[in-house]
Amino acid sequence: TTVYLNGEYLPMSEAKISPMDRGFLFGDGIYEVIPSYDGKLVGFGPHIDRMKEGLGFIEIGLNHSHEQWREICEGLIEKNGGGNLGIYLHVSRGADSKRFHAYPNDVAPTVFGFAFEIPPAPVADKAKAKGYKVSSTEDLRWKRCNIKSTALLGNVMHFQQGYAAGNNEIILYNAEGEMTEGSACNAYIVKDGVVITPPLDNQILPGITRLMLLDILRKDGSIPVEERTVTMDEVRNADEIWLTSSSKEIAPVIALDGNPVGNGEIGDVWQKAQALYSAGKF
Ligand code: PDD
Repeated sequence: TTVYLNGEYLPMSEAKISPMDRGFLFGDGIYEVIPSYDGKLVGFGPHIDRMKEGLGFIEIGLNHSHEQWREICEGLIEKNGGGNLGIYLHVSRGADSKRFHAYPNDVAPTVFGFAFEIPPAPVADKAKAKGYKVSSTEDLRWKRCNIKSTALLGNVMHFQQGYAAGNNEIILYNAEGEMTEGSACNAYIVKDGVVITPPLDNQILPGITRLMLLDILRKDGSIPVEERTVTMDEVRNADEIWLTSSSKEIAPVIALDGNPVGNGEIGDVWQKAQALYSAGKF
């Protein structure tokens, strides 16, 4: 594997980062994952916009342009043989000489990227798709989930909770019993043909797959979409549940906490939405 580190491409085994890096000590950084199929990046512009916004939120002064980021991504794709790749980009505040919580002002950010293999994009065929099993639990992360922070311990602990119990993901809900998102994905229900997903706020990450899917569905017009609060009662009574992320696109959920979702099979609305997404994502 060839990685990118601070302006250079080098073998993963030669990439060295200081243990004083604030990404390591504090999780003080921002990351992105951008999917790429046969050299074509999905949602590149919005992914970079979100990273620039995140760097702004935490006052990391790195001003790479979209073009600079594109060069890094294309370099990683080319040096790693193309195919189906996830491009991971990571900017941390950099290595300070001491461990002190306040932002240092004389430290250069660490810029790191690597490529990893991802499964082929899902085919919109409910007979062939993978049905996800999920559990649910109260969202115990922080109140800034809109920031794509590299500090993912809260997400990791929730994912592990689901995984250890034999599930593929875990759906989170707030203290009011309203669905927020999954530990590494956005969440949706389908009821009576309408796709419903929680609105963007500090409780969820503004997913790029979410952004693109809602845009594609609204432009197509055949499946109505609502962004509004979704209670866990509605989730338990949904006809379909979906999860979205860059690496899974739209994932249909067939079981929630051991109970079937709808009739326990992948739904028709999923198949239609995934077909629209597959056709519209580039
Ligand atoms: N996860 N919500 C959370 C908490 C996430 O971690 C992710 C992405 C999403 C979906 O965002 P997008 O559609 O932009 O991928 C929502 C990435 C892929 C990860 O951490 O691996």
